[in-house]
Amino acid sequence: MKIITSVKEMNAFADEAHALGKKIGLVPTMGYLHDGHLSLIKKSVSENDVTVVSVFVNPTQFAPNEDFKTYPRDLNRDAALAESVGADAVFHPEPEEMYPDGYHTYISVEKLTEVLCGVSRPTHFRGVTTVVAKLFNIARADRAYFGQKDAQQLAVVRRMVADLNMNIEIVGCPIVRESDGLALSSRNVFLSPDERSQALVLYKSLCTAKGLLEGGERSAARIRAEIERVIKTAPLADIDYIEIVRYDDLTAVETIDCKVLIALAVRFGKTRLIDNIIF
Ligand code: PAF
Repeated sequence: MKIITSVKEMNAFADEAHALGKKIGLVPTMGYLHDGHLSLIKKSVSENDVTVVSVFVNPTQFAPNEDFKTYPRDLNRDAALAESVGADAVFHPEPEEMYPDGYHTYISVEKLTEVLCGVSRPTHFRGVTTVVAKLFNIARADRAYFGQKDAQQLAVVRRMVADLNMNIEIVGCPIVRESDGLALSSRNVFLSPDERSQALVLYKSLCTAKGLLEGGERSAARIRAEIERVIKTAPLADIDYIEIVRYDDLTAVETIDCKVLIALAVRFGKTRLIDNIIF
């Protein structure tokens, strides 16, 4: 497996693959890979001739008060894991390679980025769409793989691809959870043992919501209140948001009569966790 650090070399690798008629799958990541990432890589390997995993902690999607500096990084470990599931290349540029002096171009998706995580992270998605568009171009990807855990990110990327007529297929993949239900995240390493055990209320609250929906409850307010009640049983949980929105456009719903995303973000100490279900 190749480790590529320059845009030029990544372009050449991708052009060579395309010249041989090969399809390229891209798995964009910020590294510190876990089984959720590995499930995306495996899916790409099964659907494409070549799989590129990008490992880049993207500075433009972090606000100044966020965890860019402390975000966990371990390239050797990531490269070994990516190779173990069949990746052909890891693209690991330095920030200056992606954003050289004089860089001034950003992509903003409106509306979808103004709700859910966009409220407390107003500049986040502009950084995500910008880097993702750059990675699509640099790796000349035919398909790109994203986890459903970042459901809003997936919706925003799909919107960008449709709106800008990008010639790439976006593949969404299911959330991977620990055996006790906690959704896998590179940020889970920051949780203290107490925070880690209390964070189980997130999935528990979503399962409670699912149970209510399956029992016929259709009031978004009542379901939201029940999710809040379950989360508040964990004294360390500090709720950022609990939202029930239409899956298609992320607008709020009062009565659940369509496909919905039930999404939440909750802080445990300094660590902000997100989780969701689709119903
Ligand atoms: O989901 C992530 O890890 C990041 O937001 C992404 C898509 C790799 C862009 O930096």
